[in-house]
Amino acid sequence: MTELITSYKTPLIVFISLTFLLILYLSPYNNHHFIINTGHTFSSSFNLSRTPKDLFSSASPLLASTSTNEIDSRFLPKERLTSLEKVEDDLARARGAIRKAARTHNYTSNKVEDFIPRGSIYRNPYAFHQSYIEMEKTFRIWTYKEGEVPMVHDGPHSTLYSIEGQFIDEMERDENRFAAGNMDEAHAFFLPFSVANMVRSLYEPPSGGIRVPYIHVVADYVRVVSEKYHYWNRSSGGDHFMVSCHDWAPAITREAPNEIFKNVIRGLCNANSTEGFQPKRDVSLPEIYLVARTLATATQFRKDGVNHPILGFFAGGAHGAIRKMLIEHWKDKDDALQVHEYLPKGQDYGELMAQSKFCLCPSGYEVASPRVVEAIHAGCVPVIISDHYVLPFSDVLDWSEFSVQIPVEEIPEMKTILLSISDEKYHRLQKNVRLVKKHFIINRPARRYKTPLIVFTFLLLLGILYLSPYNNHQFIINTDFFSSSANTSSTPLILYKRPKDLSSVSPLLAASSTTDDHKGFHKRKELTGLGRIEDELARARAAIRKAARTRNYTSNKVQDFIPSGSVFRNPYAFHQSYIEMEKTFKIWTYKEGELPMVHNGPHSTLYAIEGQFIDEMERDQNPFAAKTTEEAHAFFLPFSVGNIVAALYKPLVYAREPYINVVTDYVRVVSEKYQYWNRSSGRDHFMLSCHDWAPFVTKEAPNKLFGNVIRVLCNANSSEGFQPKRDATLPEIYLVARTLATATQYRKTGLNRSILGFFAGGVHGNIRKILMEHWKDKDKELQVHEYLPKGQDYGDLMAKSKFCLCPSGYEVASPRVVEAIHAGCVPVIISDHYVLPFSDVLDWSQFSIEVPVNKIPELKTILLAISDEKYLKLQRNVRMVKRHFIINRPAQRFDVFHMILHSIWLRRLNFHLPT
Ligand SMILES: *[C@@H]1O[C@H](CO)[C@@H](O)[C@H](O)[C@H]1NC(C)=O
Ligand SMILES: *[C@@H]1O[C@H](CO)[C@@H](O)[C@H](O)[C@H]1NC(C)=O
Ligand SMILES: *[C@@H]1O[C@H](CO)[C@@H](O)[C@H](O)[C@H]1NC(C)=O
Ligand SMILES: *[C@@H]1O[C@H](CO)[C@@H](O)[C@H](O)[C@H]1NC(C)=O
Ligand SMILES: *[C@@H]1O[C@H](CO)[C@@H](O)[C@H](O)[C@H]1NC(C)=O
Ligand SMILES: *[C@@H]1O[C@H](CO)[C@@H](O)[C@H](O)[C@H]1NC(C)=O
Ligand SMILES: *[C@@H]1O[C@H](CO)[C@@H](O)[C@H](O)[C@H]1NC(C)=O
Repeated sequence: MTELITSYKTPLIVFISLTFLLILYLSPYNNHHFIINTGHTFSSSFNLSRTPKDLFSSASPLLASTSTNEIDSRFLPKERLTSLEKVEDDLARARGAIRKAARTHNYTSNKVEDFIPRGSIYRNPYAFHQSYIEMEKTFRIWTYKEGEVPMVHDGPHSTLYSIEGQFIDEMERDENRFAAGNMDEAHAFFLPFSVANMVRSLYEPPSGGIRVPYIHVVADYVRVVSEKYHYWNRSSGGDHFMVSCHDWAPAITREAPNEIFKNVIRGLCNANSTEGFQPKRDVSLPEIYLVARTLATATQFRKDGVNHPILGFFAGGAHGAIRKMLIEHWKDKDDALQVHEYLPKGQDYGELMAQSKFCLCPSGYEVASPRVVEAIHAGCVPVIISDHYVLPFSDVLDWSEFSVQIPVEEIPEMKTILLSISDEKYHRLQKNVRLVKKHFIINRPARRYKTPLIVFTFLLLLGILYLSPYNNHQFIINTDFFSSSANTSSTPLILYKRPKDLSSVSPLLAASSTTDDHKGFHKRKELTGLGRIEDELARARAAIRKAARTRNYTSNKVQDFIPSGSVFRNPYAFHQSYIEMEKTFKIWTYKEGELPMVHNGPHSTLYAIEGQFIDEMERDQNPFAAKTTEEAHAFFLPFSVGNIVAALYKPLVYAREPYINVVTDYVRVVSEKYQYWNRSSGRDHFMLSCHDWAPFVTKEAPNKLFGNVIRVLCNANSSEGFQPKRDATLPEIYLVARTLATATQYRKTGLNRSILGFFAGGVHGNIRKILMEHWKDKDKELQVHEYLPKGQDYGDLMAKSKFCLCPSGYEVASPRVVEAIHAGCVPVIISDHYVLPFSDVLDWSQFSIEVPVNKIPELKTILLAISDEKYLKLQRNVRMVKRHFIINRPAQRFDVFHMILHSIWLRRLNFHLPT
């Protein structure tokens, strides 16, 4: 028996998905009034309307109540059946086989069974086993192809809602053996949208908790598939299912107009039976918090033994009434029953779980908690404290055999209850926890991705266990608030000498120190530490000045690309500066901090550049990585504001303190541990973020902590504290999920541009409001839309336009600038106070048009007044600068990553530290 269990491995698919699929598979029987619309004769023989009195009762309500009728004799010869009849016939045969197995206590299979479910953890192991066999043999699911990423066909792959992305991927995987070859053979239909990604994409701070936009998306999706195919109408959605772990999914599906999800099988984490979750129709999904970039939870690879010194353990915020009660009664009161609001300093969450006999899993704001699965992984017996929570897989698993349920009102007596469990009973529970564990583990077959980047990330990182103290969202490292350690009020060290000749040299380059070319350099050998660093920077400055003077470069390598032409402010200075950067620049990326908020960031959609950049910096072969802190010219703080917000965000709470706490705490840790921060008060340090809140989070940090730090930001609003000489502008690039491409990147571009100007986008902010007022749907040549006209393709329209309008929205930056450049369309910048990316080296007037906000009414006249000759020059230049706005992984010379590094390099060149 044990052997069978340990050798049980499914090569292709997640066990957990299978178990889940099984339950989906079971559920349609239950909806007999929908799925069997044809008045099928078998339907009445399968009466499942009996309500379970108690979810923990001994027989599964779904399996145990199968009728005893033998129906095999009624099957029809397959060839005479229509497709729906065939589907129903498949299901009827399966029911017959399950019933037989339950009766004979044995299975029927034409394959060797490598795992046979047995034991008390199963309500009816024979029925479950046969049902599983039938599922593998029969069940086929059609995943609708309609809809677009990121809201459909994609979902989060890590942290709390990870199961959405993982499940969608698994269903859409090429080799998925449950995929129906065509719609007619499908027993169920999957609506592959992700509520979590919808919330991420559509969430707008001021409108907060309004669910209307999300409801629109899901309702629209159903409308599209129900108009296009007849399957939805055939069953009124009864053989359709959706999957979501997001807190809002139950409400969004419940509140959709005309009760469209009324019959749909909803796979939900938040299976609150008093909030519309119907155990017979819906499926309770286990909530699994996946550590970013791995398929592991914080507890999965912990040593699990018999030595459990702690009686009970809980750490987490006082969210919701149940936790409040728990914290009131037990917080830090008892050595044996450890209940913490914040994890004690130096303690490891996963370790504590593995050392505890019982792990408390109280509901928070929502019924589900990732602690249930974590406890099971850690070999700790889960203690469920919840009202109305329908436990995952409870159709087939008997939770009373491997968990303890404590009613909310008995929280005060919890210790007595746990102590009264005999050793014998405890050992049985714990043994069963280990038996049931396999049903709560996610496996993913090695996936074929299109881009080498993802292959790299997956293969390299899968095996590594990353831990995150996510249960204590307050701080990365659980200690005090940043306490005025770095004194940032001393005089700035930046040496701004006014350049003599601003016209020819980029302001930053010209402003580099005036030390003469070779005077003042030291012999390298004599120098150590900071002296050497500053000497290297001085040499680089001199070389750049020389190149600007002689209009030629010095390099000991063959140059494959030589910047030239009017798009560069000073091509010679830039070229030499780039050469010096490649030769000299070394960056230390701090190793401190933990996933997902540090060392990771979003890899797609609007903030993609955060995750991509962090990965690039931490890549093994990164040529700019310093080998030691000593040789570094600059220090990278690798946190992601995008991920910090995603991890800590709570609906309806707009306070930025939690995010500020994380970043200040991070600086405190590195400044206490190393001398480098104090040495420069952070001047040779940089952070990078594309998130809207990054400017504020860094500006509002206490004691002007980031006052000297080089901030690389998308939202480079010079009236909101962005300082062009200290900070650098990051281009905003909206990456299509799972690729490194934008919507426009691979469009055919040509000279045939029938549209004068193009814009499509929401009325966000004042500038767009003015634009819409004047131009929305008014002009055939100047096309301004709030919503893309039906059937039109955004990337195509950009590639067919002469000019692409890039007005600021809520924030100055817009992904349209880069998209226009990729589409070979001349960007029209309509913004106030936006410092354009790479404007130290690029002359934007040569490849874009700037239109002041007050000239929006004359926009068409302005664009028409541009001569063909001038337009062709602008467009040629757009094609020339394109290489500087393309993401490559690994990064390549002169591409967007190297341009970003060059912006940082220039800012570092621009001051020197006293040695
Ligand atoms: C199903 O069973 C219940 C109670 O066992 C009964 O009230 C109901 O009429 C039955 N339904 C059908 C369709 O046989
Ligand atoms: C159960 O069925 C399998 C194959 O279907 C068979 O090999 C086995 O002997 C049966 N066991 C019992 C106890 O009948
Ligand atoms: C399904 O029903 C809706 C509403 O009655 C209708 O608009 C739609 O066209 C139908 N779909 C098909 C494929 O007939
Ligand atoms: C479950 O739903 C009920 C009814 O809305 C609500 O009172 C209760 O707080 C919910 N439970 C949790 C833990 O959210
Ligand atoms: C940097 O300065 C802070 C505050 O003065 C101090 O707490 C910290 O220990 C210093 N770091 C090092 C490495 O000396
Ligand atoms: C920080 O430095 C300034 C100027 O050097 C000094 O006046 C101030 O007292 C210092 N603050 C702290 C907290 O050390
Ligand atoms: C510029 O420098 C390169 C190598 O440093 C040399 O091959 C080339 O001839 C020089 N060009 C001019 C115009 O001086």
